Amino acid sequence: PKVEEFQQDLISWFEAEQRDLPWRKDNDPYKVWVSEIMLQQTRVETVIPYFQRFLEKFPTIESFAEADEESILKIWEGLGYYSRVRNLHSAIKEVVANYGGKVPDQKEEILKLKGVGPYTAGAVLSIAYGIPEPAVDGNVMRVLSRILLITEDIAVPASRKTFEACARALMFEPNPSYFNQALMELGALVCTPTSPACLLCPVQKHCSAFEKGVQDQLPVKTRK
Ligand code: ADE
Repeated sequence: PKVEEFQQDLISWFEAEQRDLPWRKDNDPYKVWVSEIMLQQTRVETVIPYFQRFLEKFPTIESFAEADEESILKIWEGLGYYSRVRNLHSAIKEVVANYGGKVPDQKEEILKLKGVGPYTAGAVLSIAYGIPEPAVDGNVMRVLSRILLITEDIAVPASRKTFEACARALMFEPNPSYFNQALMELGALVCTPTSPACLLCPVQKHCSAFEKGVQDQLPVKTRK
């Protein structure tokens, strides 16, 4: 009953408070994928106009697959980390050539694609297909480290497994998309890196770090 109450509190908050973001307008796997790649190293406010221009220029997965190198780099200009768009292009050409243009909905298949790691796979599978896979990035690790008082070092790559197992244990099966996005949204709006807004937090009563007053000491992250 504890987990269900947590899920209800989290999901109700997300339904009421989620930001109106362009990639939340539909669950087309191609658009979800593009947005998640853009969001990996870039802030939400910066991504918004790039995402919109990208989809005006390449409205379908086929149109992006057919694009030339120059035009894909041009649309990405200013976002940086150009390997992201090169990998995305190569992966999307692969999807069009070998999967009939349908983004795979199997974890093993989607993970084979260039530039798609566990985070992107989890985000696309959950948001586009409603599959209960966790999508654990740095923000989600911060949120979970506080709620569950996890003291594993998030700078150590192997820690992700621990956080994924925790996210799986908490997963809201009726709506994995909302569950994952609610954790991201909580990290963006409330459970921020510094000065988290615990007094406004929808899951404060489920948070072990708040109970002990140690939210400012989490996550544990060795500088690197
Ligand atoms: N950061 C990464 N993915 C996101 C999403 N789908 N919505 C908001 N912020 C995000």
